[in-house]
Amino acid sequence: MKKKIIPLRSAQWFGRQDIYGFLYRSWTKNRGIPHDQFDGRPVIGICNTYSELVPCNTHFRVLAEHVKAGVLEAGGFPLEFPVMSLGETLLRPTAMLYRNLASMDVEESLRANPIDGTVLLVGCDKTTPSLLMGASSVDLPTIAVSGGPMLSGKYRGTDIGSGTNLWSMSEELRAGKITLDEFHEAESCMHRSHGHCMTMGTASTMASMVEALGIGMPGNAAYPAVDARRNVLARMAGRRIVELVKQKVTISQILTKQAFENAIRANAAIGGSTNAVIHLIAIARRLGVVLTLSDWDRLGRGVHTLVNLMPNGKYLMEDFCYAGGLPTVLRELGEADFLNKDAITVNGKTIWENNQDAPCHNRDVIFPFKKPFKKNTGIAVLRGNLCPGGAIIKPSAATPKLMKHRGRAVVFKNIEDFHKRIDDPQLDIDAQCVMVLQNCGPKGYPGMAEVGNMPLPPKLLKKGVTDMVRISDARMSGTAYGTVILHMVPEAAAGGLLALVQNGDMIELDVAKRKLELLVSPEEIAQRKKAWKEPKPPLDRGYWKLYFDHVLQADQGADLDFLVGKSGAFVPRDNH
Ligand code: FES
Repeated sequence: MKKKIIPLRSAQWFGRQDIYGFLYRSWTKNRGIPHDQFDGRPVIGICNTYSELVPCNTHFRVLAEHVKAGVLEAGGFPLEFPVMSLGETLLRPTAMLYRNLASMDVEESLRANPIDGTVLLVGCDKTTPSLLMGASSVDLPTIAVSGGPMLSGKYRGTDIGSGTNLWSMSEELRAGKITLDEFHEAESCMHRSHGHCMTMGTASTMASMVEALGIGMPGNAAYPAVDARRNVLARMAGRRIVELVKQKVTISQILTKQAFENAIRANAAIGGSTNAVIHLIAIARRLGVVLTLSDWDRLGRGVHTLVNLMPNGKYLMEDFCYAGGLPTVLRELGEADFLNKDAITVNGKTIWENNQDAPCHNRDVIFPFKKPFKKNTGIAVLRGNLCPGGAIIKPSAATPKLMKHRGRAVVFKNIEDFHKRIDDPQLDIDAQCVMVLQNCGPKGYPGMAEVGNMPLPPKLLKKGVTDMVRISDARMSGTAYGTVILHMVPEAAAGGLLALVQNGDMIELDVAKRKLELLVSPEEIAQRKKAWKEPKPPLDRGYWKLYFDHVLQADQGADLDFLVGKSGAFVPRDNH
């Protein structure tokens, strides 16, 4: 029997021989596209987050040209298009507020256009999850290409890393240990090439997640943005996406539960950002893959941090690349039996076939699993009366002796209150206290800002205190460090117990037992609850209102409730 050939979805536009076929083709030809490009070949949408407002993605026009070259070489028809881009440094109040909005842009752009498969150009923190979330809801063949990290920062003979040394140097400035001139000099030395933050912050973590999930090509995590191999990778992705369209391999066939499990373990092995917890859950929920906080805790147990990278260690992504990059880490995980080896990846091979022979060129950067850099460092999920829905801590970035701790709460009502009082020499705080920040969660901020790693009070910094227990419903920059408990569910603004914590309350943390408790009687809590009022959104219109009315809690990925799941590539109404 003759096999029935199902035309590609782009044929509904370009394959028509009527008035609409004329309309679709003729306008597209206006920049010099030959007629033979409309012969039924795969149309590849290159989803570009280039923006001069997003410094980490400013080389993406060049990257897109390399993807296009690959698509053309493989017989596809590339069409590049822009989507909302999100930069961590300039966007206010926080890029996270707009992650879901950008994902809607991606989803609708893919569905509404004659696209058979897509290459997502991702870089700065939120551009990776937003594009993967949107693409997951449409479920076309998809490859993500990360823009790559910047070269290492170099300051007066030492390496300095994005974010990590920003935090440390700003604390040194506040403590009077460096001058403003030195601070300015470091500012010019830190970011000296194209690319995203070169610490193992959120962008590098998400680029590693792309590779570990198998939705990116091998090498995706670590090739520097300005390394020629980054452009080769983009070109190979362009070639490969054409094959994926022909083979009808969609994103949901790659991003399976197995793939997410691999990514969670890879996150533990790289000492990755806590932000990956929220983003991976959000992506999984778009696909209908059941992924919970408990999965994070379960899968991270027994996994060690292998890479000695800032913010947990001393090296940077450039060093990681030269040491072997993520393939070496995945090979170590596989040998330790912490990898679903059969998970299929976008290059058509399994994750194990891609990585089983990966060498290590520097054991001070990538440690062997048997002699790890830090032991048992998977994300720990805490529960207790303060966070019945969960809260997280990244043990690899925390101080071991603070992992079991009891202290007096010093409460900040919101981030403004924190900034107003933290430098006050009269602030009643000592090194044993637990710093508590309220109203910085998905609804409370809104957008769940990266403010959970509250800077320590200058008067304690001057005494040599380097870490304290800090708890909040906020997130933390992936480049930050410390004994910081984040993502508390329910958040303060959603009526969580966090909102009722008062100065002087005792708080008990026991990471080994996964416990976080407010040591206040139920009667007292009930009294306080009566006086609590739900906060109002700071801007009650437009996207802010949509977001405030529909955002889910952190344990559900902080997605908008109506975006969970996928609706596919079918356009339900079409008058053509
Ligand atoms: Fe873009 Fe850090 S600011 S990755």
